[in-house]
Amino acid sequence: MEPETITAGEPAMAGQAAKKKVVGSAADPLWYKDAIFYELHVKAFADSNNDGIGDFKGLMQKLDYIVDLGATCIWLLPFFPSPLRDDGYDIADYMDVHPSYGTLEDFREFLNEAHERGLQVMIELVVNHTSDQHPWFQAARSAPAGSPEREFYVWSDTDQRYRDARIIFTDTEKSNWSWDSTAQAYYWHRFFSHQPDLNFDNPRVLEEVLKVLRFWLDMGVDALRLDAVPYLVERDGTNCENLAETHVAIKAMRAAVDAEYENRMILAEANQAPANVRPYFGDSDECHMAFHFPLMPRIYMALSQEDRLPITDIAAQTPEIPASCQWGLFLRNHDELTLEMVTGDERDYMYLAYSADPRMRINVGIRRRLAPLMENNRGRIELLNSLLFSFPGTPILYYGDEIGMGDNIYLGDRNGVRTPMQWSGDRNAGFSKANPARLYSPVIMDAIWGFEAINVEAQEADPSSLLNWMRNMIALRKLFRVFGRGTLRFLEPSNRKILAYLREYEDEQVLCVANLSRVWQPVQLDLSGFEGLVPVEMLGYVEFPAIGSGYYPLTLGPYDFLWLELQSPRVGGEQQG
Ligand code: GLC
Ligand code: CA
Repeated sequence: MEPETITAGEPAMAGQAAKKKVVGSAADPLWYKDAIFYELHVKAFADSNNDGIGDFKGLMQKLDYIVDLGATCIWLLPFFPSPLRDDGYDIADYMDVHPSYGTLEDFREFLNEAHERGLQVMIELVVNHTSDQHPWFQAARSAPAGSPEREFYVWSDTDQRYRDARIIFTDTEKSNWSWDSTAQAYYWHRFFSHQPDLNFDNPRVLEEVLKVLRFWLDMGVDALRLDAVPYLVERDGTNCENLAETHVAIKAMRAAVDAEYENRMILAEANQAPANVRPYFGDSDECHMAFHFPLMPRIYMALSQEDRLPITDIAAQTPEIPASCQWGLFLRNHDELTLEMVTGDERDYMYLAYSADPRMRINVGIRRRLAPLMENNRGRIELLNSLLFSFPGTPILYYGDEIGMGDNIYLGDRNGVRTPMQWSGDRNAGFSKANPARLYSPVIMDAIWGFEAINVEAQEADPSSLLNWMRNMIALRKLFRVFGRGTLRFLEPSNRKILAYLREYEDEQVLCVANLSRVWQPVQLDLSGFEGLVPVEMLGYVEFPAIGSGYYPLTLGPYDFLWLELQSPRVGGEQQG
């Protein structure tokens, strides 16, 4: 089928609702609330031309796998032309595809194929910084100081400005300033020194950003992840994060999305405390979604401490968000498990509990995948996923975690969690037929985590595999809107190894109970207000005893969790209606 072709950078059509572009694939403007995201890098997924690097043609062949898993939205990591010194987050051209991954035409075809299967697609809008190879930077460094070209980036004669801004990549960077000998000035960068920050005080920068946004949304991309969004604007005397001027820029992006497109979404990557993330939703006039960064490490803490407090504590600090907004929830992603949003003591604890080998650490975090973090304990892996699927927000899965893939701590940077997808026991894990030496990254090969032990083909054939369990849980979640849209209320049983919470939406009421401990636990739940209702276990559709007037007793095995739908009793033992 011919993909829809639309000229890039068409002028805004504000106010002309009839002319809004509807090539996005979602029908419901709140689609992201009921979505299941699947995050992947095209290079890591499937290699169609056997050059050792995954590509869009390969990804297209695997779309049915993503559909069968139950995911509804693919989050693509950066695939643009780039020197790849930060896995593509160092962009050299915003409006093209890196030749290793295919062509713009391939991308269009992929988008079309995804949409035909009912999948949405989210891509990256990385506009805090560019690669130093971007033509804007190349022009800026040789343009006269003060000229509009030079002012695309943030320059200074001294490296002493903005000293209250923290360094994010603590392992590699000593300063947020680097000297450019061509410009004879320092340029500002919050990440790697080869990633100069764009200057949002220059109105031409925002204009260019809006062109990029329109280029991809015109094509039909459903959502944009705003990378590193807290750092857009710098001001003296501040930590240069979350500034009012940054929010003005985001509001301009959202206004363009709302004026010109239907049913699209923007998501904030703001690794900040809950109170500082709240403004990224604005008054429903900034981002539709934001990652819940602070919750994630506290899930791991709660599990390791066998105590629900870290979770209930961060939930209590989580502010209400506008009705059309949504949290993005995740257990792991392509970066290190970040520990920036925990206290010093909590960080020490996490390092001790989850990174015995110093190679497992990078910057302020832990560079490991979910299954190794869980010591390959199936009960723990399932428990954490049950929380991911039942907390308020939209779950985001990281490719490979659905089969329990391992990591490779001997690779540099965050590459240990970016190894090729393990499709089968064939050469190169079925990822590529290239000479193994040519792969962009070695596949994982040891006896426990290697592709012969852990791969999609084997798990598809095994009814009790993690993959089949994940498919089942996702299918179950999708039968109920309460998980994506409902309210949350914690119960407070005296046994703190038990985490119990109620999710409620319209006529759906679900009680979730989880045992964070490695041994059996009894619990007495205060379910007053629900007397007479019958808890029905949702996976097996098994009726539990009706809720009476006293405490409701339950007993949970190691890492057990229960999802119980609270139903009205059947009349006379017969099915109602
Ligand atoms: C975001 C990305 C990370 C990247 C950084 C700099 O935090 O998730 O992978 O290195 O931005 O672009
Ligand atoms: Ca290839």
